Amino acid sequence: MKKETKEKKYKIGEVAEILGVHEDTLRNWEREGFVVPERIGKRQDRRYTAEMIGEIRRKGLVSDLAKKGQKTKKGLSEFTKDELIKELQLLNKQKKYGLVWENHIEEVVERCKTEAPILVNKKEKQITDRNKTKPTNILIEGDNYHALQVLNYTHKGKIDVIYIDPPYNTGAKDWKYNNDYVDDNDTYRHSKWLSMMHKRLSAAKKLLTKDGVLICAIDKYEQATLSLLIDGVFPSHEITCVTVIHNPAGTQGNNFSYTNEYLLFVFPQNGVYINKSKREDALVSAFRDWGTISLRSQAKTCFYPIIVKDDKIVEFGDVCSDDFHPGSSNIKQNDGTVLVFPIDKKGVERKWVFSRGSVEEVKEQLHCKNIGGEISIFRTKGETNYKTVWDDKKYYANIYGSKLLNQIIDSNFPFPKSLHAVIDSIRAVIHSKNATILDFFAGSGTSGHAVLELNKEDGGNRKFILCTNNEFGIEDEKKIMEKYKINRKEFEQEVNNETKKWHEWRDEYGIASTATFPRIKNIIKGYTKPNGEKVKGLGGNLEYFKTEFVDVENIDKVSDKKKLEFTYEAGQMIALKEDTFKEVTKNKFYQIFTDEKDKFVGIYFRENLDKLSEMEKNILDKKDVKLYLFSYGVNDFKKDYSDYKNVVVKDIPEPILKIYKSLNN
Ligand SMILES: C[S@@+](CC[C@H](N)C(=O)[O-])C[C@H]1O[C@@H](n2cnc3c(N)ncnc32)[C@H](O)[C@@H]1O
Repeated sequence: MKKETKEKKYKIGEVAEILGVHEDTLRNWEREGFVVPERIGKRQDRRYTAEMIGEIRRKGLVSDLAKKGQKTKKGLSEFTKDELIKELQLLNKQKKYGLVWENHIEEVVERCKTEAPILVNKKEKQITDRNKTKPTNILIEGDNYHALQVLNYTHKGKIDVIYIDPPYNTGAKDWKYNNDYVDDNDTYRHSKWLSMMHKRLSAAKKLLTKDGVLICAIDKYEQATLSLLIDGVFPSHEITCVTVIHNPAGTQGNNFSYTNEYLLFVFPQNGVYINKSKREDALVSAFRDWGTISLRSQAKTCFYPIIVKDDKIVEFGDVCSDDFHPGSSNIKQNDGTVLVFPIDKKGVERKWVFSRGSVEEVKEQLHCKNIGGEISIFRTKGETNYKTVWDDKKYYANIYGSKLLNQIIDSNFPFPKSLHAVIDSIRAVIHSKNATILDFFAGSGTSGHAVLELNKEDGGNRKFILCTNNEFGIEDEKKIMEKYKINRKEFEQEVNNETKKWHEWRDEYGIASTATFPRIKNIIKGYTKPNGEKVKGLGGNLEYFKTEFVDVENIDKVSDKKKLEFTYEAGQMIALKEDTFKEVTKNKFYQIFTDEKDKFVGIYFRENLDKLSEMEKNILDKKDVKLYLFSYGVNDFKKDYSDYKNVVVKDIPEPILKIYKSLNN
């Protein structure tokens, strides 16, 4: 499209009317670089209007204006056949119900069209526990869009719980889109946020196990939109919105003062995915029903004997036949057992609270009391369903978020979550003690800390994967400008050009460098509080990765040369996928990793097979071997190793590129 000259030759109001949009919207398009052709303003060529609308769609600036634009045509009869087919295809793709937003081009997403993300292991940040039996946790520094691409290869269907706390989009410059803060003057504030979240959630969904659960923290600014967004991305899941009182003093403002935020729990429909929580005030109640619906005749399967010996429940008898009437609540047997029936003091036959079919489920909660020689049955409920309002001091973000963080590291990280809010979120979800928990908006790393605390509490082996960018906040920007005596324009130039200085600033001030990593390191290894008190480390292993890129020119059609170049760099990703972080060797032909136990991974990245037997010699005799062999497409090397029961053969790079391609289309 032609570039617009500075002098506007059209009337903005007229063009807005033709396109059926508000003038402000048009001005915003212009700011985003969209050019309004002069001819539209003069209404000389209505066909041009249709082309323009097409361009708007292609650019992804506005998604639902097509129909409005069509108003400028006299009728459908003016469309060519091809145009009509295109329109119909578009209409079919359009959502019929739910949330609508304007899709926005995001630089980090665009980058993936020509460059493929890889991981580079920063060994200088590795933490190893003396106790090698503990699992290895992962910290990935980089934009989470890129980290999620990589994880779709390494961890597809392997994540049990995703906990995220994205920027809340408060309008107070709490996050950046394409390197610019999004504030409340930005007309596209919500659309940008939704575009960003939609891309991340869609990629993250594929990582969850079949029973996996997503937990997302959010507050008033985007709670409603996020719920609808998640509803669209997870159509067969249930969403429960939990209210957390995190700020009892409340927010400032003219109308309501908010004391709460939310946790959205997203889990598959029809099943049990949420644990029971422990009751501090265990509830004791009689197991024999009373009140209006408590008679034997009202629930025949609830009338059976509970068999007691030495004041302990040993068994449950069968449901009594209608013509059997024990006559008393306690019937002593010759073998010393007592049959206890739900009969009250007046001799009325009542019923137990649970039927014979389901009483075994609560067996652990039942116990007897011998009152004046008569045995009665009671139920103690030590557990209960989690409630949808979490109101406890331990969830206060100021005390158990900010103040706690300042005890662990010297940081000005804004608004960390209460450690206990995150612990309880993860605890609420049913998962094994070996679960993998992912947080791709890790911030100060509260979720990593929570996972290590949970392991300490129950001896579990859960592991975490944290992803965070290494951006700096607005306060740090001011510090940098002051320290280097530069103005905002100069500062922004360094940022936009991703200069050497920018990299250095990130290493010095960025979130990953100043909050996420130091916190996790201190929690694992131990630290000293500002008052001198020493805190013992929780132990654990950590591998630190950074996202980097290999130029592949076009992700939809990667040339053979680029496939070779990419494969040479893909080793660390494979090491993450296989949980084998120790590099044994890397040369121009192959790379070998091990988990330092039984597992060895060999990656052969050349078409020339001259050194393949050398690599094989190094690993084929090991107990558990994975071979990743370069191939331009899909290979049939598997049969070459069919005699080796200890060897699994895989292709590279095609499976990785296929995933990247599908995520970016
Ligand atoms: C609200 S904070 C999370 C706070 C965290 N729950 C805690 O307790 O410390 C959101 C974090 O996500 C990070 N972030 C935002 N956009 C990101 C992106 N595209 N990729 C990676 N991290 C991102 C920001 O740096 C910020 O630290």
